[in-house]
Amino acid sequence: LFSPIEMAPRDPILGLNEAFNADTRADKVNLGVGVYYDENGKVPLLRAVQTAEEARVAEHAARAYLPMEGLAPYDQAVQTLLFGTDSPLLQSGKLITAQALGGTGALKLGADFLYRLLDKRLVAISDPSWENHRALFEAAGFEVVNYPYYNPTTHGVDLEGMLQGIEALPEGSVVLLHACCHNPTGADLSFADWTRVIDVVQRRKHVPFLDIAYQGFGDNLQDDAIAVRLFAESGLPMFIASSFSKSFSLYGERVGALTLVTESKVESAMVMSQLKRVIRTNYSNPPTHGAKVVAKVLTDPALYELWEEELAEMRDRIRLMRQALVEKLKAAGVTSDVEFIQHQRGMFSYSGLTQLQVATLAEDFGIYAVGSGRICVAALNHGNIDHVANAMAQVLLT
Ligand code: LMR
Repeated sequence: LFSPIEMAPRDPILGLNEAFNADTRADKVNLGVGVYYDENGKVPLLRAVQTAEEARVAEHAARAYLPMEGLAPYDQAVQTLLFGTDSPLLQSGKLITAQALGGTGALKLGADFLYRLLDKRLVAISDPSWENHRALFEAAGFEVVNYPYYNPTTHGVDLEGMLQGIEALPEGSVVLLHACCHNPTGADLSFADWTRVIDVVQRRKHVPFLDIAYQGFGDNLQDDAIAVRLFAESGLPMFIASSFSKSFSLYGERVGALTLVTESKVESAMVMSQLKRVIRTNYSNPPTHGAKVVAKVLTDPALYELWEEELAEMRDRIRLMRQALVEKLKAAGVTSDVEFIQHQRGMFSYSGLTQLQVATLAEDFGIYAVGSGRICVAALNHGNIDHVANAMAQVLLT
């Protein structure tokens, strides 16, 4: 049965953890996966999360099944976080949210649902995009194409290219957009840019699918939701995949959500009934713990405030590390432009390192980055940054 099976290639991101774990060098550094580490190199347990967990454990609650669409207070809190407390959408009946297994699970639910819904199964992702976007949609049966996104000369968004690319797609294509903190480039659209993108998406009758995995890592929770809110104002039906892996440091709990904006309350009921079938035939219903914790933090004003503070601490530390990396690269003799590292947003820097340079970093220095040149700045700290900056300088200068 299994004899025809060949070895699959390593996952371009998660596969780096395997290589990193197998490396025996004491000064190895994992800049691969998008995980925030604190100044001590540890994945933090947020105080807001810990408090919510303690309250939950004290309840000694039984573990019944959740509904297929997940915990209702969680689903509602997700909507408030996405659209803002004052959004008329919250009471409109046009929103449906299903708890999902992380952001990836939300994307997969959305992809499976769209596969059943659409005749034209074409999805356009940014060039470049998160490596798993292509794999995930292809696995769900879609043809996946790219629209231009990144301009390596300016280290910013190639807006005109992006608009033309989206315009040129066959009408009714699914357009996957990173709502904030673009992964991997850290180059985001401005308010005015988003209005132009929305205009093209609307005119071409495309289906917008927003991926928001880093809300709070750009400027703050409100400003980072601007794309979601602008799309909502346009009245377009849309898909949104949320993740709380990073913002709550709850990676292993798989806490995400898929939110859909429909055109009416009646439509919502029918859409939800179909979405539930997708859920039931995939994993039946989601797990309880992470959603309970996130719902508690999002609905308790004191915990919410604490969480916002902790999120700001993470964001600020990443900024400090960006600045330190730029300074240290210059001090190590790098004369090429590296200032852009400071202006990229979110956890990553799209460093411009070539695949070969990335391979040399791993082989010669035990520093692991994604083959595209993406490095996770959130994994830097004062203990490892000199090693990283010196190694990067060496590969850049040879
Ligand atoms: C990443 O981009 O590194 C994260 O989103 C983790 C993952 O699942 O790839």
